[in-house]
Amino acid sequence: MRTFVAVPLSQPCHELLAELQGKMRPLGTDVRWVAISSIHLTLKFLGEIDPALVPKMVESLKNATSESPFKLRLHGLGGFPNLRSPRVIWCGIEGDADRLITLQKKVEVACAELGFPPENRPFHPHLTLGREQGKRNLQQLLDYIKIAPDFERVFDVDRYHLYKTVLTPRGAIYTVLDTIELTRH
Ligand code: 2AM
Repeated sequence: MRTFVAVPLSQPCHELLAELQGKMRPLGTDVRWVAISSIHLTLKFLGEIDPALVPKMVESLKNATSESPFKLRLHGLGGFPNLRSPRVIWCGIEGDADRLITLQKKVEVACAELGFPPENRPFHPHLTLGREQGKRNLQQLLDYIKIAPDFERVFDVDRYHLYKTVLTPRGAIYTVLDTIELTRH
């Protein structure tokens, strides 16, 4: 079972992302746009795990992440690895970044205790909006990103999920396996 750990977004965030995608999609760039309902903030990609490990994983995450809720906000558009030749078009995450980094580190520790190797790349919080598929009309998209109106949308991080992902020819399908609430006050 292919799994990952991520923070879900609020409905207003999904609406804003849909609006942004709606501006970029008609530019005709070769980008596979991510379905809005499946956009999330990934904390840890686990890959294939034994389904029998799920309860232990959830228990370990719950024990490791005794944290109070905090706030983040969506702000800015960008590309990985850069905006000259992007493979991924993303929406940026700002706000209580220190709290997010603490949470992400605790998730890493919980996963490492169950034998998942820690990520050796630095954590760059982002929301993937689309993945580049070719160079057609790429310049139009980059020009739009440069002049796109500024936006901000705050959301509460008061829970995160362990997700299952099933890869299909029409994109990945994500299902919530369990929820970890951030309840410490
Ligand atoms: P991305 O948003 O940057 O593509 C589910 O696939 C989630 O796990 C995605 O949000 C994806 O991040 C993230 N992820 C991280 N590493 C991955 C990998 N090696 N393969 C697939 N997804 C990965």
